Amino acid sequence: MIPTIAFAIILIIGSPSLSQTPTPRPCDIYESAGTPCVAAHSTTRALYAGYNGPLYQVKRNSDESLQDIGVLTTGGYANAAQQDSFCANMPCKITTIYDQSPRHNDLTVEGAGGNGAADVPAPADALPVTAGGHQVYGVSISAGMGYRNNSTSGVAVNGQPEGMYMVTSGTHVNSQCCFDYGNAEVSNTDTGNGHMDAINFSTECWFTPPNGCSGSGPWVQADLENGLFQSNSGVSQNPSNTGNGAPFVTALLKNNGQDFFALKVANAQTGALTTEYAGKLPTPDSLPRNGGGYAPMQQEGAIVLGTGGDNSNGSIGSFFEGAMTAGVPTDAADDAVQANIVSVSYGGPTGNSGTLTPASEISLRPTTACCTSDSLRHQNFTAILSEISSGSSTLDKEDATWIIRRGFADNSCISLQARNYPGYYLRHFNFKLFLEPYDGSKQFAADSTFCPVPGKNGQGISLQSFNARNKYIRHYNFGGFIASEGGDYPWDAAAFWRDDVSWIVSSPWAP
Ligand code: AHR
Ligand code: AHR
Repeated sequence: MIPTIAFAIILIIGSPSLSQTPTPRPCDIYESAGTPCVAAHSTTRALYAGYNGPLYQVKRNSDESLQDIGVLTTGGYANAAQQDSFCANMPCKITTIYDQSPRHNDLTVEGAGGNGAADVPAPADALPVTAGGHQVYGVSISAGMGYRNNSTSGVAVNGQPEGMYMVTSGTHVNSQCCFDYGNAEVSNTDTGNGHMDAINFSTECWFTPPNGCSGSGPWVQADLENGLFQSNSGVSQNPSNTGNGAPFVTALLKNNGQDFFALKVANAQTGALTTEYAGKLPTPDSLPRNGGGYAPMQQEGAIVLGTGGDNSNGSIGSFFEGAMTAGVPTDAADDAVQANIVSVSYGGPTGNSGTLTPASEISLRPTTACCTSDSLRHQNFTAILSEISSGSSTLDKEDATWIIRRGFADNSCISLQARNYPGYYLRHFNFKLFLEPYDGSKQFAADSTFCPVPGKNGQGISLQSFNARNKYIRHYNFGGFIASEGGDYPWDAAAFWRDDVSWIVSSPWAP
């Protein structure tokens, strides 16, 4: 306690006014507890009260120029306005997430690995949220995206103790391998059991699914290599751990490298951490199927974000902040970190429902007389019109709900993400509309960007294709297309065009 108090006193004396007195941030807390951060990554805020450097770097598509995004004040929140002006009306990607710790373990876009082609960077503005009342951006990982550092300093290797946490989201997850943050191999390949020690947050139930996990997740798990562990036997030993789907989730792992690991989870907006597991590391006795290698651990000290140790990159996820420590932090330090995260008041999509504001959830209703009880929905990954009502099935309602994202190709326009397929977007291909996962390519960005203009029949809006400017999202024979008013395709028919391209933006069927 004494170092914490001394630290607070120094800060009070040294600060310009009491109202601006910085409270210790997560890495100050871990340092006071004797387990300093060896990595501190965030696109939303400083993780040290004294940090005044860059948080992340973005690259602009137009001229490939780079810009560091810093903090508004020392120890404060990200200066997202810097990004907004640098990236105005053009796509930007996150190329580096800087390490705020003195170790400089920065994360850059991950190269090819044993189980995945080289990754692409995450779009810089896909995940606008608020932190401390400021608009900032999280990192939205789609399949094929990931970050890594294979040449680190101070990160645990060969059975050394460590801890780590991240603030992630329960609303953008899948069951593919492996949305991880933490310690991994330096070779991007699977070099065997115990060569990883990373937090996994996903709905991937690795051991004897579906019986190895309780509920439907997403769960905080330990990726110790060749398994996502909820206990020393791999499977969940905790029936009450059914997962945490909150919009903002604190996920925490600590591992003494010899015989003990623990998993904790919390709602990052409120409340305290829950310990989901604290006990032995897997051994050949507790997990005969995998053999040995986990006790002691054999970490290699690389840092991965968004993929598995071998760059398995089918997973999706969200990342707002995370840190790794030298040594296993005390439970008291973990609790203080969670309290600090709660004090940030992370906030997001809520409250914008039914508008075209990024992160808002909507439904799109036709204005053509035929079809006013229909909505634009996906089915079998194709866009169509269906009649949807309050009595429709959950699946139908979710298929007819879209989440607004800033347009990938032009951030004054929008992209439409599926409510029930995070990472999948409405895009045109051969002038028909499909639901596909964002692959980071310029072609996909353009094909999935639509610019709202006043409805062509005077009602609602029309959605102009970014790269086929004379075409707008249209329903035709209950299919989804981009269409011009007269043209080569049947769906370009001039009759009813103005009505068919005019849509009412309504509240979401599945908020
Ligand atoms: O342990 C789960 C995954 O298995 C690791 O992340 C990856 O390296 C391997 O495919
Ligand atoms: O949808 C029209 C075009 O078809 C798209 O721009 C392209 O992805 C595909 O060739």
